[in-house]
Amino acid sequence: MPGAIYAEGLVKTFGDVKALDGVDLDVPEGTVLGLLGPNGAGKTTAVRCLTTLLTPDSGRAVVAGIDVLKHPNEVRRSIGLSGQFAAVDEYLTGRENLQMVGQLYQMKAKEAKARAGELLDRFNLADAADRPSKTYSGGMRRRLDLAAALVVSPPVMFMDEPTTGLDPRNRQQLWEVIQELVSGGTTLLLTTQYLEEADHLAHDICVIDHGRVIARGTSDQLKAQTGGERVEVVVHEREHIAPATEVLRGLGKGEVAVENHTRKLTVPVSGGAKLLAEIIRELDNRGVEIDDIGLRRPTLDDVFISLTGHVAEVTNGENTENAENAENTENGGRSANDATDANDANGKDTTEDAK
Ligand SMILES: Nc1ncnc2c1ncn2[C@@H]1O[C@H](COP(=O)(O)OP(=O)(O)OP(=O)(O)O)[C@@H](O)[C@H]1O
Ligand SMILES: [Mg+2]
Repeated sequence: MPGAIYAEGLVKTFGDVKALDGVDLDVPEGTVLGLLGPNGAGKTTAVRCLTTLLTPDSGRAVVAGIDVLKHPNEVRRSIGLSGQFAAVDEYLTGRENLQMVGQLYQMKAKEAKARAGELLDRFNLADAADRPSKTYSGGMRRRLDLAAALVVSPPVMFMDEPTTGLDPRNRQQLWEVIQELVSGGTTLLLTTQYLEEADHLAHDICVIDHGRVIARGTSDQLKAQTGGERVEVVVHEREHIAPATEVLRGLGKGEVAVENHTRKLTVPVSGGAKLLAEIIRELDNRGVEIDDIGLRRPTLDDVFISLTGHVAEVTNGENTENAENAENTENGGRSANDATDANDANGKDTTEDAK
């Protein structure tokens, strides 16, 4: 049986840009899918197709058991959406915005008022609740927009970069809200540029680029594919880069990446803390002085570089739509074919295994 969010072969073209080039998704009920991808990958387009805001050129989508193309109005009644760009009415206060949403969903005035108050507290907006939202900071608008998406609790939710632009405390709080929602049975598709966020929240992750799915799996599976742990060393002097490189080459299990200007060397390793101690001893034997050394798991950047050939760009929640085409042409050697190969190498669909 297809999941609460299901898509098969979604294609959407804008002029000569293939924003979606045959995307398949299947999100089991009560789980979170993290949709990752660089700027312009097609994440927002996928969300817009699944939430009836765009009609795909071809393909099929079923959300909450309802065919998206055949019955868009019914789908709208079963979903909640928080878009990438906050969609609040600037002239209304925060409280009025939330009450309005409640009333649009046919809540009684009293009920809408109570729900608005609860969400304003929850998202740390109580102090600003009665100010027009145009006086809000970017992060406050973002939070108001998220609160608006949660006025009613639909069975299926879509959140497009919900925490971009939020400070760490507010991000953490939103994560808690999301975890509560999901433990209550909500199915969520969330796009994000933060692997840490996907790590925290998503049962499965789907990485897309150029409108195609290039990898799927759990966060651990993707990280493992990127090469497990790394040791990062910052040497005290430039002259120490060469001997340190030799040491890391000997004890690591892969290429040593050297950043000359920061005197930082990175190498994939297996062996954890024990190996770290060995590396420190060996560097000491060679008289290499170190400013910093540590063991770290692959970051979002590592996963992105390895899968898509370039680093993740974290947008600031403002308008970034124009920058992305330029980005995508600068990948030096990466092509749509590479993406296809990556998909094949991954054995196509590992979502089943990941459950
Ligand atoms: N309405 C539109 N008209 C023309 N091109 C569009 C439109 N919407 C999206 N695109 C193009 O489709 C591609 C995918 O865009 P999309 O917004 O889905 O990317 P994204 O993965 O959400 O990126 P970001 O991380 O920057 O939000 C981009 O090349 C974009 O320029
Ligand atoms: Mg987007």
